[in-house]
Amino acid sequence: MKLFVTGGSGYLGAAILKRAPTDWHIAATYVTHPIEQRNVAAFCLDVRDADAVTRALEQTRPAVIIHTAAQMTGDALIAVNADGTRNVARAAQQIGAQLIHLSSDVIFDGEHAPYDETAEPRPLIPYAISKARAEEIVRAEFSNARIVRTSLIYGFDPMDPRTRQVLNGEMPRLFTDEYRCPIFVDDLADALIELAEISEISKISEISILNLAGAQRLSRYDFGVKLARAFNTIIKFQPALSASHPTPRPRDCALDIARAQKILRTRLRGVDEVLAQN
Ligand SMILES: NC(=O)c1ccc[n+]([C@@H]2O[C@H](COP(=O)([O-])OP(=O)(O)OC[C@H]3O[C@@H](n4cnc5c(N)ncnc54)[C@H](OP(=O)(O)O)[C@@H]3O)[C@@H](O)[C@H]2O)c1
Repeated sequence: MKLFVTGGSGYLGAAILKRAPTDWHIAATYVTHPIEQRNVAAFCLDVRDADAVTRALEQTRPAVIIHTAAQMTGDALIAVNADGTRNVARAAQQIGAQLIHLSSDVIFDGEHAPYDETAEPRPLIPYAISKARAEEIVRAEFSNARIVRTSLIYGFDPMDPRTRQVLNGEMPRLFTDEYRCPIFVDDLADALIELAEISEISKISEISILNLAGAQRLSRYDFGVKLARAFNTIIKFQPALSASHPTPRPRDCALDIARAQKILRTRLRGVDEVLAQN
C-alpha cells in the first residue's frame, strides 16, 4: 500500500505513521515539526500551496491519502482547513488517489445529538466553520473521498496536549454541560488504517461519511475527573457551565458510531475501557 498522510507531524498523524504496517510505503507532510521516522518519506508542505501539493502527490503517487493537516486556532483557518483541503482533494482526484478527509464533531450546533452520518453541519465557532466549509468543498467538488468525523482525540504515549493541560492544572474550569465522545488516538489511527485498506480495495465514486468516535459520551468535566483519577493526580480544575460562556459553543456533539462498528474490525473503545486497559 502507498499511503500519504498530511499533517504527519501532528498528534493523530504521528500515531498513524507509528501504527501503519511496516511494509507500507508511506509519505507524510509537516510544516514546523520535522518528521524523523526512518520508513517515512517526509515532505515539508503547506497545504495552502496548491502547486506544491500537486507536486508532492505526483511524485509519490499514493493509493490513499489521509488528510489530517489542519489548524485549530489563528487567522488562517479558512485558508488552511478549507482552501488547503480543496488543494489536497483536487490533487488526489488528478492522480486517482482515494482521499480520507478528517473532519470534526464540532461542525454541529450541539442541539440535536446524537449525530449520525446524515446529520447536516451547523457550525458555531470559527474553527468549526472552517471544518464545515472543508466538508462542503469535498462534498461538492470531489467524488473519491471519505469524510471521517471524529471527536476529542486523547492518548498517553505521548500524552495529548489537552490531557497534559488538564492534569497540570492549566485548565482551571471544565464544562459539566458540554458532551463529546473522546476517542483514544491508537483506536482512531487503527480505524483510519483499516479504512485506508478498504479504500484501496473498494474505490468509491461517491462521497461517504463515517463517524469515528469513542463509544462513551462524557462531559468535559467527567472526562477530566476520570483522567485525573487514572493518573492519581489531584483534581486541579473546577466545574463550569458552557452555557455561561460569553460566546455560544456546541453543547452536545455526541456522534453515533453504529455504522463504523458495523463495517470496521477496529473497536472504538469508550474512555472507561481504555483507562482500564492502559
Ligand atoms: N485533536 C482533536 O481533538 C480533534 C478533534 C476532532 C477533529 N480533529 C481533526 O483531526 C485532525 C488531526 O488533528 P490533530 O490533533 O492531530 O492536529 P495537530 O496535532 O494540531 O496537527 C496538525 C497538523 O497539521 C499540520 N499543519 C498545520 N498547518 C498546516 C498547513 N498550513 N499546511 C500543512 N500542514 C499544516 C501540522 O504541521 P506542523 O506541526 O509540522 O506545523 C500538524 O502536522 C485535524 O484535521 C483536526 O481538525 C481533531
